[in-house]
Amino acid sequence: MSTNVTVTGAAGQIGYALLFRIASGQLLGPDTKVRLKLLEIPQAVKAAEGTALELFDSAFELLEDIDIYDDPTKAFEGTNIALLVGARPRTKGMERADLLEANGGIFKPQGEAIAAGAANDIKVLVVGNPANTNALIAQSNADGVPAARFTAMTRLDHNRAIAQLAQKTGAAVSDITNMAIWGNHSPSMYPDLFNAKVKGERAWDAVGDENWVANEYIPRVGKRGAEIIEARGASSAASAASAAVDHVYDWVNGTAEGDWVSMAVPSDGSYDVPEGIITSFPVTTSGGEWKIVQGLDVPEFSRERINNTVNELQEERAAVAKLGLVS
Ligand code: NAD
Ligand code: LMR
Repeated sequence: MSTNVTVTGAAGQIGYALLFRIASGQLLGPDTKVRLKLLEIPQAVKAAEGTALELFDSAFELLEDIDIYDDPTKAFEGTNIALLVGARPRTKGMERADLLEANGGIFKPQGEAIAAGAANDIKVLVVGNPANTNALIAQSNADGVPAARFTAMTRLDHNRAIAQLAQKTGAAVSDITNMAIWGNHSPSMYPDLFNAKVKGERAWDAVGDENWVANEYIPRVGKRGAEIIEARGASSAASAASAAVDHVYDWVNGTAEGDWVSMAVPSDGSYDVPEGIITSFPVTTSGGEWKIVQGLDVPEFSRERINNTVNELQEERAAVAKLGLVS
């Protein structure tokens, strides 16, 4: 048995870093063979073919086949895992509403194609920005597919939050557990140190510096994407691919006992987050399904910031509803 994995934007930067990790078995584990289905726009199909030649040359034992498409219906046919990476970047003079509309033109037909032909166990991860709202558009246009199968990526933010906390406290990355990102994959996201732990101690107490948390840590994590763009001249690619691998691996294989991860998933109303928007929560996974962690401490400091990032997502939902992209 092999698993069909569709990657959109396959000729892009993230695609280039991601495809080799998938083919080597890091996405699904060492016992699962993979058939890759790559989707690109017609102008980039040739470049995707070049990447496919390199994948072939790597002689990965788990890689059974690679097909390249410029038609979403074919690219999603029979697929089990869909990584929606390709998106329309914001260009000069483009307003946020233009960006949402341009991405609607990508994620609406992709949602429809997933509904038309993906496998019954389809799992979707949206990476392309604005990731949460792109995921909402795809999900809203995928009639008959359970909403829970549509997720967006905040795992990069989660990993960044762990790395920054480890550096501040002098702890190892493996000493940090129970990190949670709440909200949107945008600078408004909220990395939560009230529930995160450093060697089992509440991270807020381990740090002991509210000013650092409020004025350095939270903005640093939230704006890390912009910091990378400034330094590299291009947005994060290998770390984004790595986070996508972490997200899907944990969704399929389950989270560690006592710990959780961050995934943007359709809200069920938990923590007073309006139902339906795709927002980041702490989740556990088991048997290929995710569950929002319940009963966590949400003091006023967190509440304010969660409300702020959730409000931003509601505004994005209202904007795409106005464009007729979601119901
Ligand atoms: P890139 O520009 O290098 O590649 C994007 C690729 O998508 C291009 O090859 C393009 O041809 C393709 N594409 C465009 N429209 C398509 C369509 N309709 N169907 C299939 N392919 C299509 O960009 P990148 O650096 O690989 O980043 C991809 C996206 O991921 C961007 O939107 C970026 O902002 C986002 N991103 C998200 C996170 C996150 O944490 N969620 C992190 C980093 C980057
Ligand atoms: C990131 O967090 O690195 C990216 O989402 C930044 C971007 O705008 O592509």
